[in-house]
Amino acid sequence: MDFKGRDVVSINDFTVEEITYILDVAERMVPAARGEKVLDLCPNKILARLFYEPSTRTMLSFETAMKRLGGMVIGFSDVGSTSVTKGETLADTIKMVEAYSDVIVLRHNKEGAAQLAAEFSEKPVINAGDGAGQHPTQTLLDLYTIRTELGHIRDMNVALVGDLKYGRTVHSLAYALAKFGANLHFVSPPSLPMPPEVISHLEKRNTTFDIHRDIAEVIPDVDVMYVTRIQKERFPDVEEYNRVAGVFRIDASTLEKAKEGLIVMHPLPRVDEIHPDVDATPHARYFQQAFNGIPVRMALLALVLGADLEAVL
Ligand code: NCD
Repeated sequence: MDFKGRDVVSINDFTVEEITYILDVAERMVPAARGEKVLDLCPNKILARLFYEPSTRTMLSFETAMKRLGGMVIGFSDVGSTSVTKGETLADTIKMVEAYSDVIVLRHNKEGAAQLAAEFSEKPVINAGDGAGQHPTQTLLDLYTIRTELGHIRDMNVALVGDLKYGRTVHSLAYALAKFGANLHFVSPPSLPMPPEVISHLEKRNTTFDIHRDIAEVIPDVDVMYVTRIQKERFPDVEEYNRVAGVFRIDASTLEKAKEGLIVMHPLPRVDEIHPDVDATPHARYFQQAFNGIPVRMALLALVLGADLEAVL
């Protein structure tokens, strides 16, 4: 398996075997991710993080991951302070940043931006979310969370809840879960369904999936409930947003009919879709999930940068 120099634009860039290997490497990164062990796997390597859209976890966990590997980080998180405001194209920005760094992590409001950047850069480009497109590194940490919490992914019943139309995390996750042979349950308002291209991909792969409007219909059967925020910033019309805002609210009482081992996940940030009273239940995993971004991104960066992994494997 060769990861060195590869772009990560879509989760479909990886086979099941490759994803499994990344998750295996991530497990070995945990002590260093916690700061209990010093790893110097990427000394002198520079990560450029270009964030054209807001981010807390993705940006900070990439940064922590790179620093825990002994590398360095440059970049911006506010295009207002860059030449983008002067009209510089993404292609030109990428061509230049490529010369300043060894790996580029890009978050952009336009679907397809990461693909474009990858075409213009010889250095690896990692998609940290492109509009309503995909968010492959979130999916890697989601899969890692399911595997570490529940032991495996195959045959799991996973409900994807919320904004399935604009939510990039659930697009990548649905593709990945299909690869692993999970059973999918889509729960969304009628106006925010899984996009047709995802559905036709799942049909071609004979993935088991069904569609619901109400969380109560799936609660007793699922092993994982993956809740997402309604993606307000993607709505062309605020009235349309107001019609669906707050449609799903999960609280501790919603979970009374859940299986004992059900885990609740969320890529975060949450708005009002998970009540804080869920945090104290044995089901909540979203904060653990957010931590998992560190070892998983460490593994991915070390692999893409061609680090010698002998010290960890
Ligand atoms: C998600 C994103 O940006 O797509 N957040 C994240 O990366 N953890 C989800 C969201 O913003 O709702």
